[in-house]
Amino acid sequence: MNQDQQTQLKKSVAEAAARYVAQNLKAGAILGVGTGSTANLFIDALRPIKEKIRGAVASSENTARKLTEIGIPLVALNDIDSLPIYVDGADEIDASFAMIKGGGGALTREKIIADVADCFVCIADASKVVAVLGNFPLPIEVIPMATAQVARAVVALGGTPVLRKGFVTDNGNHILDVSGLSITDPVALESALNQIVGTVTNGLFARRGADVLLLGTLNGVETRT
Ligand code: 5RP
Repeated sequence: MNQDQQTQLKKSVAEAAARYVAQNLKAGAILGVGTGSTANLFIDALRPIKEKIRGAVASSENTARKLTEIGIPLVALNDIDSLPIYVDGADEIDASFAMIKGGGGALTREKIIADVADCFVCIADASKVVAVLGNFPLPIEVIPMATAQVARAVVALGGTPVLRKGFVTDNGNHILDVSGLSITDPVALESALNQIVGTVTNGLFARRGADVLLLGTLNGVETRT
């Protein structure tokens, strides 16, 4: 698949997600919105149905800006008790709907919103589906003073961490992009990485994966549950 085709698939899946929201989000409900190029296309696709959406919880400052631009009011996660639907992209997704996320660096806020949401709708083009997670380097958000110590702990687990240069998360932290990990048990690895002191979040979304996958393929958008 070339880049133009991938962008086209991202666009069709974003439009399918807007239809999904139009059909499934109850009038007056709040929507969770992810981060990244697919999520940006999803926000564009929300324009025609924005009156149906009372407000949205944004997973990053970029997403918040885009939602504001199209006139969807922002809602703080602390001001709501529940969130029926969260729509977001992924860097990789496997058959159990476990994902690697955080290519855009928004993993912590994304994981918090996913935890609150009743239904996580993953929007992805076909290139994101993998048999085993881990070809895409796993992002880990770390407290800046702990960066070297977390990197050593990751090396001890068999990974090769690289500091994402010139990047600071919306929470003021660093990102280590970790390659070389064997992710045959994503739930166990997610938990093991959570134990490293100084990590904020890791980009494995396995303990709470997606519930619905809208997958953009060259033959159209598939809905997988
Ligand atoms: C951002 C994310 C994104 O969902 C992920 O990186 C996919 O991005 P894109 O839609 O641009 O391929 O997790 O932190």
